[in-house]
Amino acid sequence: MRTQVGIVGAGPAGLMLSHLLHRAGIESIIIENRSREYCEARIRAGLIEQWARDMLVETGVGERMQREGIFHDGVKLRFGGALHRLDFVDLVGKGVTIYGQQEIVKDLINARLAAGTKILFEADDVSVHDFDGKKPKIRFTHEGKAQEIDCDFIGGCDGFHGVCRPSIPDGVLTTYDRDYPFGWLGILSESPPPDEELIYSYHERGFALYTMRSPVLARLYFQCAPDTDIESWSDAQIWEELHLRLGGARKLAEGKILQKGVTPMRSFVVEPMQRGRLFLAGDSAHIVPPTGAKGMNLAFADVRVLSRSLDAFYRTGKSELLDGYSQTVLPRVWKAQRFSWWMTQLLHRFPHESAFDRRRQLAELDYVATSRAASTTLAENYTGLPIE
Ligand code: PHB
Repeated sequence: MRTQVGIVGAGPAGLMLSHLLHRAGIESIIIENRSREYCEARIRAGLIEQWARDMLVETGVGERMQREGIFHDGVKLRFGGALHRLDFVDLVGKGVTIYGQQEIVKDLINARLAAGTKILFEADDVSVHDFDGKKPKIRFTHEGKAQEIDCDFIGGCDGFHGVCRPSIPDGVLTTYDRDYPFGWLGILSESPPPDEELIYSYHERGFALYTMRSPVLARLYFQCAPDTDIESWSDAQIWEELHLRLGGARKLAEGKILQKGVTPMRSFVVEPMQRGRLFLAGDSAHIVPPTGAKGMNLAFADVRVLSRSLDAFYRTGKSELLDGYSQTVLPRVWKAQRFSWWMTQLLHRFPHESAFDRRRQLAELDYVATSRAASTTLAENYTGLPIE
């Protein structure tokens, strides 16, 4: 098989890269080791920055999101037992859209297949080769047969646990990371939202977040120990904890729990995000803790730049933009890292914190809630910094 850009991974980064390349007249094939059903059911955060919403609409894959997504012009912070509203539209003239990541994945897969792009699901033993030269290759097994794709470039969009990043020779990448001493226990529940907006709660027992997927589907999270076994929490215990941390200010309706899991919390970046003709995008190059819901938005920002750089190469034969890919995307990656870390340290309880630390957190929350300058900073980052 031969294509212009071989893409490893059918998550938001790989699918969006293929979509944007297709619009520029560049052919790609996507290799994915999971099944289509798995990709379409994988639950992640569901918050889309304003520019990313606009990009989905302008490039023709935003129609269902416009119908089913919920536009939010603000969020609520809860601390000291009271709710404080931040009005994003008033502060920065922008908002965010709540629409599950797996819904975007479904829409992007449908658009790729309708355009005739090959997505090879359930490919095993995927490996990437020869990206230091001009003829990189992707090898894998598909439907029992060993296969090879010859391509001009490889998009490494295969996530944190993927094969692309570890294929780059030792000594090339520098890793920057931080682990957090907690995780999030998250549920999807068939229950009406207690509020029409998200509530981020700083509570004595730890952080909790109320978000939603639809008017009848709530998504709720709370801070838990990092090694929590989800089976050790009964549904009744989960509701009890949520009532304690989120109840009071709003009545929390219980419902059937459709899905539950524990999300680890990690900040991670590699630099550079490229080697020869292999380009990393999304979680294969960086991970953020979910507190600001930046993961998918950052993946979209990466592939927006990468597709533009590939387009310039095919049109002019010049590789300046491709050579500068990491330098172009890393400033945004780091600002999103900073914001995600900042939201995380602001809202969570830490194992060795002192009474001073708690007073400082409460002062900072009060500052964010009452100062227009501080709320604007949060709103500007939360709704998405300007794109390059
Ligand atoms: C979600 O809807 O799953 C979500 C929203 C906001 C966050 C994290 C997760 O900060």
